[in-house]
Amino acid sequence: MTQVKKMKITAKKADGTIVEQQVTPNNFDTSSIWGQVADRYDSEIGWDEKVMGIGLLRRWLVGQAKGDVLEVSTGTGRNFDYYKPNQVDSLTVTDDHPSMLQAAQSKFKQYQTKFHNTFVSFQSANVDRPESLEKKRYDTVVDTFGLCSCGDPAGALVSMADACKSDESRILLLEHGRSHYDWLNRLLDTNVDQHVKKWGCWWNRSIMDLFEEDRVKEKVEIVSVSRWHFGTTCYVVAKPRKLRLICIVASSPLSACIIFD
Ligand SMILES: C[S@@+](CC[C@H](N)C(=O)[O-])C[C@H]1O[C@@H](n2cnc3c(N)ncnc32)[C@H](O)[C@@H]1O
Repeated sequence: MTQVKKMKITAKKADGTIVEQQVTPNNFDTSSIWGQVADRYDSEIGWDEKVMGIGLLRRWLVGQAKGDVLEVSTGTGRNFDYYKPNQVDSLTVTDDHPSMLQAAQSKFKQYQTKFHNTFVSFQSANVDRPESLEKKRYDTVVDTFGLCSCGDPAGALVSMADACKSDESRILLLEHGRSHYDWLNRLLDTNVDQHVKKWGCWWNRSIMDLFEEDRVKEKVEIVSVSRWHFGTTCYVVAKPRKLRLICIVASSPLSACIIFD
C-alpha cells in the first residue's frame, strides 16, 4: 500500500496561534511528489483509466493531433499509443519534472519504429512559464490531465495558446476537475489536501471556469466541449482566439493606433 506522507502546512496567526492551512500551489511545492510517483504512476492509474474508458477518450482526442505537435505535462507518455504518426511531422514532448520526462523517454523506446518518420524531441518545460514554450510554433498542443497539476492552470492555457502557430492550430485538452454535482464536489473539496500530497493534483479545480478568466478569454476560444464521469472529465478542443481588427485610430498625422478585439 502506498503511504501518504503526513505533511502539515501551518501558518502563525497574529495572536501567535498556529493554524493548519489548506494546501495551495503557493504554499506547497509538488516537485518532490512527481519524483516519488514516476515509477508507480502507470501501474497505479492504469486500472482506473481502463474502468473509466479514459483510453478511448485519449484515442479520440490525441488522434486529432497533426503537423508540428507539442505535448505539455506529458508525464510518463501515456498518449504515445494514440498519435497517428502519418499526420504528425514533429512531436515535442515536455514536462517540468525530470523523473516524469525520464519515464516518458524510457517508454518511448518501444514506439521508435512507429514514429520513424517523425522528428521527436524531449524537453523540460514549465507550462506555467510562457517563456519555456516556443511561441507561434505548433499546429497542435496536447495536454491531458495537466491543468490539475500545474501551479497556474489559467496561465498554462495562455502559454498553450501562445505556442500555437495560427488560429488554424488546435489545443486538445482532456482534463479533470469539479463535477456537475455538489455532493461529488464536496467529496473532492474535503479530500483535496490528501490527494495533492499523494498525487500532486488539485482534483477540485473548475476546469471550465478557467476559460472565463479574462486573460484566458483574450487568447483562447473553445471549439467543442464534452463532459464525462459526472462532469469531472472535460474533453475540450480549443483554438487561439483570432484577433479581430476593430479600428485604426490616427493619433497624429504620422502615427496610428490599431485596436484589436
Ligand atoms: C497527472 S500527470 C498527467 C500526465 C500525462 N499527461 C497523462 O495524461 O497521463 C501531471 C503531469 O504534469 C506535470 N506537471 C506538473 N506541473 C507542471 C508544470 N508547471 N509544467 C509542466 N508540467 C507539469 C507533472 O510532472 C506530471 O507529469
